[in-house]
Amino acid sequence: MDNDGDVRAVQHRLAKARQSHLLQFWEELSVPQQQELCTELKAMDLEELNQAFQKAMMGESHLPQLENMDAKMEPVPRDILGSATRDRLHLAAWEAEGLRQISQNKVAVLLLAGGQGTRLGVSYPKGMYDVGLPSSKTLFQIQAERILKLQQLAEKQYGLKCVIPWYIMTSGRTMELTKEFFLKHKYFGLKKENVVFFQQGMLPAMDFNGKILLEEKGKVSMAPDGNGGLYRALGAHHILEDMERRGIGSIHVYCVDNILVKVADPRFIGFCVQKGADCGAKVVEKTNPTEPVGVVCRVDGVYKVVEYSEISLATAQKRSHDGRLLFNAGNIANHYFTLEFLKDVVNVHEPQLQHHVAQKKIPYIDVATGKSVKPDKPNGIKMEKFVFDIFQFAKNFVVYEVVREDEFSPLKNADSQNGKDNPTTARHSLMSLHHCWVLNAGGHFVDENGTRLPAIPRCTDGRSDGIQADVNHNLKDANDLPIQCEISPLVSYGGEGLEEFVKDKEFHAPLIIDTTGIHELVKNGV
Ligand code: UTP
Repeated sequence: MDNDGDVRAVQHRLAKARQSHLLQFWEELSVPQQQELCTELKAMDLEELNQAFQKAMMGESHLPQLENMDAKMEPVPRDILGSATRDRLHLAAWEAEGLRQISQNKVAVLLLAGGQGTRLGVSYPKGMYDVGLPSSKTLFQIQAERILKLQQLAEKQYGLKCVIPWYIMTSGRTMELTKEFFLKHKYFGLKKENVVFFQQGMLPAMDFNGKILLEEKGKVSMAPDGNGGLYRALGAHHILEDMERRGIGSIHVYCVDNILVKVADPRFIGFCVQKGADCGAKVVEKTNPTEPVGVVCRVDGVYKVVEYSEISLATAQKRSHDGRLLFNAGNIANHYFTLEFLKDVVNVHEPQLQHHVAQKKIPYIDVATGKSVKPDKPNGIKMEKFVFDIFQFAKNFVVYEVVREDEFSPLKNADSQNGKDNPTTARHSLMSLHHCWVLNAGGHFVDENGTRLPAIPRCTDGRSDGIQADVNHNLKDANDLPIQCEISPLVSYGGEGLEEFVKDKEFHAPLIIDTTGIHELVKNGV
């Protein structure tokens, strides 16, 4: 390798792209550091990057005015909407169809796990986080066990041995640790060849003038290119070919941080398949107009996720004749795609996807002083694509609405930050749901005096025709304590099959039900 030649070529390209400041500290670097920086810069398409910056910034300044967006938005029509609460009569058929697809090895799950988890603030991938359940299971383990259980359920129903391959997208920030963790835990009982890791791309962070930031004197500040980096990564790593080889038809894409996620949810898959959909979004009902959640709706004839900040309060408050919010399809980054649709996206549409701009506080080296700076207000941007940016290309888009307390509780923040979407709320949501499952299966909880604890009726899930119990009702924030109850996903995927363990029995919390049986950890306390 001609090192001097390489360096000169890099210098030339940097000068052309007005990014020469990246070599400001060249003389201070050791030879290995110089080589590393040179290799990093050589691999960068600086022209494409400058263009992406211009486009992204232009896109931001041309964001439609609120009134414009309001005028264009149309709600999701009822005929493309399936609902876990409003279409209860169809649930069994959708579930049977989903399990049939799984039993025929036609379903894969794809996990988006390339994020940096900055708000949670741990130095390892979010999937390795233990929210403090009695079992100490991590998010990765919970998801792996749900996959295992679902394979068993499909096998049991259709008598066919089957596999749900698990594709895991990581990034330069999460790949090595994630792979090591899976290896250490023997893939949580899954077969190694059915867990496929691949890496998304990274992009440099820039200041507001388009100058690339240095994280260290010899290192560019890089960040993953958003969960919509998925589509480029699928192409770059030939993942769709792997899916094709396995005969996959449907893919469930989801985020690592939702502790309640129903991986490869057979009802969702079955609904999408029966509707002949190529693309689907699972949503939860938005009930509060000011909740900062993106809503799925139609804009200019195509489906989109419109962020809360893009619409006026008046539009967010609009209600339909049944009293629900008109724009109530709250996006939870939980999607269905057919393989054919993904092929189209990767081969045809991906280059059209534009980056979104996220203003961030990005630590950097000041090129004038050589000092490291930790800004206290946003000083630059990261460019990201979003996983839902491809809804616009769907030919047959559907929406599937589920109950928030049953399926959505994301882990975003550290416990110390605020009372929302943190380890405590994640742990509580899971235990509340499992408490509910026990009640629905005919079990009861008693206090230290043997008095039965009350359950408040609710009408949601639709799994059983009997009483539905609402234990979440009382849990308004992280300070409210749920009954401690945890059921291993290896015992029950979604509340099914628990009667044999709990019917007509009384329990003291904490209660754990796992493959070794029923465990009441403390006989006399809640
Ligand atoms: P978030 O946007 O919540 O980001 O990701 P995050 O990285 O988890 O957390 P913060 O914003 O840094 O605090 C939603 C989902 O998308 C994935 C995340 O791993 C998570 O599952 N993601 C995000 C990626 O896979 N790649 C990315 O570049 C960004």
